[in-house]
Amino acid sequence: MSKRLSIKDISKRKNTKPIVCLTAYTAPFAAILDKHTDLLLVGDTVGMVLYGMDSTLPVTVNMMINHGRAVVNASSHSCIVVDMPFGSYQESKAQAFRNAAKIMAQTGCQAVKLEGGAEMAETIEYLAERGIPVMGHIGLLPQSVNAFGGYPVQGKTDDGRKKINNDAKAVQSAGAFAIVIEAVEEKLASEITKKTSVPIIGIGASADCDGQVLVTEDLAGLFTDFKPKFVKKYGDLASDLNDAVKSYAKDVRERKFPGEDNCF
Ligand code: KIV
Repeated sequence: MSKRLSIKDISKRKNTKPIVCLTAYTAPFAAILDKHTDLLLVGDTVGMVLYGMDSTLPVTVNMMINHGRAVVNASSHSCIVVDMPFGSYQESKAQAFRNAAKIMAQTGCQAVKLEGGAEMAETIEYLAERGIPVMGHIGLLPQSVNAFGGYPVQGKTDDGRKKINNDAKAVQSAGAFAIVIEAVEEKLASEITKKTSVPIIGIGASADCDGQVLVTEDLAGLFTDFKPKFVKKYGDLASDLNDAVKSYAKDVRERKFPGEDNCF
């Protein structure tokens, strides 16, 4: 496989070939995804997807480091971005630098991602000027679930649209190499993609974005209870796993496993 994509390679994809991005938290998933993706995001959704948390808020820097390292170890092609979890960067620029540097040094990732618009611009600039590439994240900010009162679609009012436009401008000017735009009305996401000079990666946004990201377990159909509108189910892992485990349980109960091939 070719050498790992750098953040420069990702930046060059503005207005060219769409960037394929997925979340990855573990080595076996990363090894499979890496054959098809340009960017792997070790998202703080790890808390909800793997740990059963009901938001991303309890996720820690050490969790991100452990999962980030697993994903870096198991991949060789995709550019790896690791999320900065809630409370690890909002307090001060120095706190953000300390935690971002720890994540970069201990995982080997190429960049970090943090949530926030104009209010995080100074922090993004501080990190970018000190050798830490930053991916921005605007629109719906899952770490602000309590402030947003849930996960509502953003950009539905004039004020909302103005804010998201300003956020995109501020995060880009601060030096973010790319920006995730989440749960924003299609037209606005498309306009922002056209107006900006850095790649815009959409989730629940627009096919016009420079790339798309989804939570892998969502697209693979590992969850059956809830499917956000913006997810397209490309697989049925929950059903496949259920069938595999059902067959195993039957074999064990009927003493058909282990068979001759599985015994020493
Ligand atoms: O944490 C995450 O997985 C994310 C993506 C959903 C964009 O931020």
